[in-house]
Amino acid sequence: MARRKKVYEGKAKILYEGPEPGTLVQYFKDDATAYNAQKKDVIDGKGVLNNRLSEFFMVGLNAIGVPTHFIKRLNMREQLIRAVEIIPLEIIVRNVAAGSLSTRLGIEEGTPLPRPIIEFCYKDDKLGDPLVAEEHIIAFGWASQQDLDDIVALALRVNDFLSGCMLAVGIKLVDFKIEVGRVWDGDYQRLILADEISPDSCRLWDIETGKKLDKDVFRRDLGSLTDAYTEVARRLGVLPSNSAPATKPHLIN
Ligand code: C5P
Repeated sequence: MARRKKVYEGKAKILYEGPEPGTLVQYFKDDATAYNAQKKDVIDGKGVLNNRLSEFFMVGLNAIGVPTHFIKRLNMREQLIRAVEIIPLEIIVRNVAAGSLSTRLGIEEGTPLPRPIIEFCYKDDKLGDPLVAEEHIIAFGWASQQDLDDIVALALRVNDFLSGCMLAVGIKLVDFKIEVGRVWDGDYQRLILADEISPDSCRLWDIETGKKLDKDVFRRDLGSLTDAYTEVARRLGVLPSNSAPATKPHLIN
């Protein structure tokens, strides 16, 4: 069998050429990194869980009319996606103060924010993905003012959808990161949700206990990351509630 062409390898995923022009295969690795890859580990089963969880969120978003790159899940670790031109921004939406916002502004973790706050970071590992202002984004041509308006509208729709999904299963959506990409339909271009949505890119706290169910478990050495992600998947109905412990996740169709 011919080897597939690798298009890109990131910290948690690999992109391969897809079967049709304009498509890619997104492969979810078990590698976990934090603090710009200063902390690293391999977490058995993480890629399988994130593939399935990202599918769950993207399918739901597509169903309510939020355009995403997701086409279909191919197997335990891979999904078929639309190729996009990635906008070099990490778009962060925050509902509750935590993480770098708390550190930067001295606001205690857990403080509810008066409204969702959207931040932009420039995607550049060498620079540590620095926080940037709209002024930088427009002046340096990373996105136009119209793109930014569209990105904010998209990010707020994703926030409403994800917050609702999580609230329904007793989880608070504290914050999350998305990426968007440009696609061309003939002469028209539009922006769609790309990358992934998973507990790697969200902060998720149990509403009753405050227990962390996201990548902070790894960042802050709070226990088993797979157990935390399995808990999220089970509550959302992505894994059956009686499935075996996390190291060997069982998928349901
Ligand atoms: O670290 P910080 O508080 O800025 O992260 C905000 C949110 O964005 C968190 O949910 C975190 O998991 C996510 N994030 C991410 N990838 C990054 C930076 C942040 O998924 N490179």
